[in-house]
Amino acid sequence: MRMYDLIEKKKHGGSLTRQEIHEMIAGYVSGEIPDYQMSAMMMAVCFQGMNRQETTDLTMEMAHSGDTADLSSIEGIKADKHSTGGVGDKTTLIAGPLAASLGVKVAKMSGRGLGHTGGTLDKLESIPGLTTTIPGDRFCRIVNQVGIAVIGQSGNMVPADKKLYALRDVTATVDSIPLIASSIMSKKLAAGSDAIVLDVKTGSGAFMKTMEDSEALAREMVAIGEGAGKKCCALITDMDVPLGRAIGNALEVTEAVQTLRGQGPADLTEVCLQLTANLLFLAGKGSLEACRAMAESAMRDGRGVKVLADMVRAQGGDESFIYDTDRFAKAAYVRKVTAPAGGYITHMDTEGCGIASAMLGAGRVKKEDSIDYSAGICLYRKYGDLVKEGDVLAELYASDERLLDPAEERFLQACAIGEQAPRPRKLVYARVTGEGTVWY
Ligand code: URA
Repeated sequence: MRMYDLIEKKKHGGSLTRQEIHEMIAGYVSGEIPDYQMSAMMMAVCFQGMNRQETTDLTMEMAHSGDTADLSSIEGIKADKHSTGGVGDKTTLIAGPLAASLGVKVAKMSGRGLGHTGGTLDKLESIPGLTTTIPGDRFCRIVNQVGIAVIGQSGNMVPADKKLYALRDVTATVDSIPLIASSIMSKKLAAGSDAIVLDVKTGSGAFMKTMEDSEALAREMVAIGEGAGKKCCALITDMDVPLGRAIGNALEVTEAVQTLRGQGPADLTEVCLQLTANLLFLAGKGSLEACRAMAESAMRDGRGVKVLADMVRAQGGDESFIYDTDRFAKAAYVRKVTAPAGGYITHMDTEGCGIASAMLGAGRVKKEDSIDYSAGICLYRKYGDLVKEGDVLAELYASDERLLDPAEERFLQACAIGEQAPRPRKLVYARVTGEGTVWY
């Protein structure tokens, strides 16, 4: 096989065979195929797509490109959730502990920020001492004892995705249905859970901007999961507005704890309740309605906070930061961003909000950048709100004063103010299973 020929084939819309995909992934992981050829292939896939068989073959080759988790020592059904990526999306830190507090074993492999989106590992690492690099036997012990553990792709887990994820991030090849589906599902299959709930984001802050693409991505991932013998469903949820009020790592952990105490923003609370209900449902805890009621009651009595704190301690972190989130270091510089005119907030370009947060230091602009955990944005006004000129829309937080002006400019570009109240948006649009899509 010559990689050149495969790129040529895909460029003209041809289908790659399982053997060709196998050799391509093995060659890329071993270093035989260089980044520049793989970049060309990724771009060809972005333009030409892949059929279901190719996407499935790619997922399987990636999932088996390195070690896979052995969760056999964890008792009961193991459940996992994964978001396709969004802004202010801290749902894992809420739905995971909530589901664990209700008896589901959550063995979760998470990722870092990608493009304008945040990543669960970065958020968790804002808690002093916490590590997401944990050997398999300790990971299983924590899941058995606490109910949940969250690890990164440590060691030699899914090395193909590790390399491709970093490459796609810097070559504008993230927003492709087969590439996102294979990236996410290869990790989910390698991580070994029995049940998988997928949160497919849609809108201006998601990689999939249209409902049609979001549904196609959800169907693709559910089909791959079910084909591999997993219980699997996807929710299509809104990402045309940042989720909750906090964007940025320690800020999002703080908001997650408030939400676990039942004091979170309504949008974040609702999405987390639905994700939790689906985790419980796939784990066989009852009907979807009964699972929703269980999730609500756990949210009301705040029992997820203790589970999150126990997980933090078990992963080497200082759990006092969960019980008292005021302990998180505050950014040295705060800028209040005010409304340039009165009216309704008619649009929040959510990718723009994510970029503004990254510009403040909360995300990576380059692959090797480190993260400022205290940086980010707190939104005081959101889509649909009526504001007067001069009202505070948001606060920006940074450790370097020079970052504030460009981030403020980017944030204001993202907010549109108009005279007409915009239509209310749904939070959860649909639930996708192997049987089809149910629209809400
Ligand atoms: N999340 C992933 O894990 N992979 C993608 O490609 C996009 C979002």
